[in-house]
Amino acid sequence: MAAKWAPDSWTAAEARQLPDYPDAAALDAATDQLGSYPPLVFAGEARNLTADLARVAGGEAFLLQGGDCAESFAEFHPNNIRDTFRVILQMAVVLTYASKLPVVKVGRMAGQFAKPRSAPTETIDGVELPSYRGDNVNDIAFTPEARTPDPQRMLRAYAQSAATLNLLRAFAQGGYANLHQVHSWTHDFMGRSPWAKKYAETADRIGDALEFMGACGINAESVPQLSQTQFYTSHEALLLRYEQALTRQDSLTGDWYDTSAHFLWIGDRTRFEGSAHVEFLRGIGNPIGIKCGPSLEPDALLRMLDTLNPARVPGRMTLITRYGHDKIEAGLPRLVRAVLREGHPVVWSCDPMHGNVVKAANGYKTRPFDRILAEVRGFFAVHRAEGSIAGGIHAEMTGQNVTECTGGAVAVTEQSLADRYHTHCDPRLNASQSLELAFLLAEMLNREMAERKKAAA
Ligand code: TRP
Ligand code: MN
Repeated sequence: MAAKWAPDSWTAAEARQLPDYPDAAALDAATDQLGSYPPLVFAGEARNLTADLARVAGGEAFLLQGGDCAESFAEFHPNNIRDTFRVILQMAVVLTYASKLPVVKVGRMAGQFAKPRSAPTETIDGVELPSYRGDNVNDIAFTPEARTPDPQRMLRAYAQSAATLNLLRAFAQGGYANLHQVHSWTHDFMGRSPWAKKYAETADRIGDALEFMGACGINAESVPQLSQTQFYTSHEALLLRYEQALTRQDSLTGDWYDTSAHFLWIGDRTRFEGSAHVEFLRGIGNPIGIKCGPSLEPDALLRMLDTLNPARVPGRMTLITRYGHDKIEAGLPRLVRAVLREGHPVVWSCDPMHGNVVKAANGYKTRPFDRILAEVRGFFAVHRAEGSIAGGIHAEMTGQNVTECTGGAVAVTEQSLADRYHTHCDPRLNASQSLELAFLLAEMLNREMAERKKAAA
């Protein structure tokens, strides 16, 4: 495995889930063009995130990663970006306030366009066409033209990612994320949720604290941390030609970084032994995530960690577990024990979304809020029992008032799923459900912090 790595060394390995582009010359032309475009993130930022995640691994911070299952060209709008960002800010405030831990904020945003599929083709009424693989590959409409992979879509995805990231940076650094604005991040449509009231109370208390500190001379002018936040981006590193084209050598260190996002993860379907995706990720300096489902054996995980993080750099690896509410307590301990035994430093993060998909009676793919919550509870219970650190959460959510997941305090019923079911892929938590999850998660984290203090005393 110590074989030489290059941005294209993955092409010699087995690549699954990649589109078949009909026109190889058009593909090369598009990726050549992409290769000449500016990087979206700077290597130093990716290193900062690794350092932040090292603190998460050590129990000194908490990771909040969230955003769309899949971004789309159709829903590209500043309000959508703002709305998702503000819910993440609300969640971060709630978690920080309850746990007194810094929260590392990572969006599934500005690049989350490619989707793995269970089958390469889809058949409707006897017509077989390539599956939809995300907006940077093809179009979701069921026609031969729409479903033909088009390499020019990568350039459009790049442009949309650049504009999204630009707005996120402006929001994070330019005043929108100022803690003095904590009240203004609430959505009007959240009015009915009891959690909106609870949020307002938390915001009041933060406002009080800020006023007190202000009287003591500590304000946004003297302490920029009050008015700014660090917001990182991430997506699944699936479309390898795209990722390769944005992989650049850092001028400061000479190391390679995938500059399409700060953090890249490898999916459950592409993390097999000998995978091209693993080969690609092994050579980049960014922090990396691995989605870990019930089919992942401890030995395979350990081999993957040895390959991806041979130097055992803390913060380099995040293990995003996605078992399902009824499988996590039986399945996760084996992985945790193996990783602890081998001494690999990792962040353990909980994806309570992907193992909890059910089909509603009316055919909608949904995720019951109770099951999502149950998986998070199981996650904390397992890590408490095993002596490992429950480090973070990975959620599919949106700032929009959609009806895609059932349940929550303002209950979405199976019947109401049809009202505003907008997702291009998996069902997402809406803004109210996301905030509710943050409060319930904060309670668990708070209890966990108390347990840790007790154990240390
Ligand atoms: N800079 C701190 C942080 O990012 C405090 C902060 C500023 C903050 N704006 C925020 C925290 C918005 C959460 C949400 O943690
Ligand atoms: Mn998804």
